[in-house]
Amino acid sequence: MRAGQMYDARNPGGPDLPPELPSGLPSDLLPSDLLLDRLGLAEPAFEDRMRTALAEAEQRLLPGTDEGPDPRVTAITGHLVEAGGKRLRPLLVLLGAEFGDPAAPGIAQAAAIAELVHLASLCHDDVMDGADTRRGRPSLHARWGERAAVLGGDWLLARAAQLAAGLGPAAVHLNAQAAGRLVAGQLRELTGPGPDVDPVTHYFRVAAGKTAALLAMSLGIGAVQAGAPAPAAAALTEYGEQLGIAFQVADDLLDLRAPAGSTGKERGRDLLAGVQSLPVLLAREGADPADAELRALLTGGAVSAADAARALELFERSGALAEAGAVMHRRLDRARAALDALPALPARRALSALCDHVALRTG
Ligand code: FPP
Ligand code: MG
Repeated sequence: MRAGQMYDARNPGGPDLPPELPSGLPSDLLPSDLLLDRLGLAEPAFEDRMRTALAEAEQRLLPGTDEGPDPRVTAITGHLVEAGGKRLRPLLVLLGAEFGDPAAPGIAQAAAIAELVHLASLCHDDVMDGADTRRGRPSLHARWGERAAVLGGDWLLARAAQLAAGLGPAAVHLNAQAAGRLVAGQLRELTGPGPDVDPVTHYFRVAAGKTAALLAMSLGIGAVQAGAPAPAAAALTEYGEQLGIAFQVADDLLDLRAPAGSTGKERGRDLLAGVQSLPVLLAREGADPADAELRALLTGGAVSAADAARALELFERSGALAEAGAVMHRRLDRARAALDALPALPARRALSALCDHVALRTG
């Protein structure tokens, strides 16, 4: 977003994005404003409060550099912020804050911290993956080069640290812990399980770091900043941990079984990249003789383009997708169970509906 431009939650990318949700827009790209609609809350006062608070958080993402405006630096640091996104993490911060005093100071800053850490991790992830696009636009490194992309991510991380310092030691701790877990998760994925670690156990450790840590932190920082009781903050954090793993498994499933175009990602992309997703690991580790051909295709890591179509066909018949689906549902059940400790507020209903949304995405 450019300086002085009003944030429009239905059009977070600015005037060059269509103002309404076009049919067929991948659900991954739903702005949280529309995600709120999808959560089926029908609670107008609550929804309005969320939308206002999301817009306020959005304003905190791009303050400019301390040394004064430099158009090229601003373009790099703002590249991913301006690309929009569903702003799930800020929404989780706000939902967590509902269990304390949502009008307490610092909630918008906390919501911005969660999104900034996420965006920083995406800048670096796209460099690592050599991904040319992100959120339907050229990735930061495709546009400005790898070195600029690393520094752009560093800047976002520094901005998050600066905001956390303004909130106090609890926020500083949560921010640093989440960033550390993200990096450790990514490093685990990079280095692989090693000879003594079960690959499925390793998968869950990676997912806990890469995906769950920041969702859990988002809910936790919102609750803490709003002065929610400690048991509520703990329940929300546990919900985030379980939702995060379910999210990762849902992503894995969508790669293998979504109809083309419905996720914004090409089907089988993870297979081609040799990603050891949960269904891949379960198929590889399984002993069903009917899966022998699939196992043979998966043992070499990255699947060739020629073999990918066959592997996708074989996955449809294998039990690995159903098994991974059951894992996802168990995690969603655990997330919902964590909500039982919370008062029956609209925010609790929204968090429960988010679990249903994840389950529905995977069909
Ligand atoms: C997306 O994974 C990547 C992440 C969820 C985390 C990446 C973390 C790092 C690069 C560590 C650095 C972290 C910080 C805080 C600077 P993906 O490649 O599976 O998903 P994608 O399809 O969205 O790219
Ligand atoms: Mg990636």
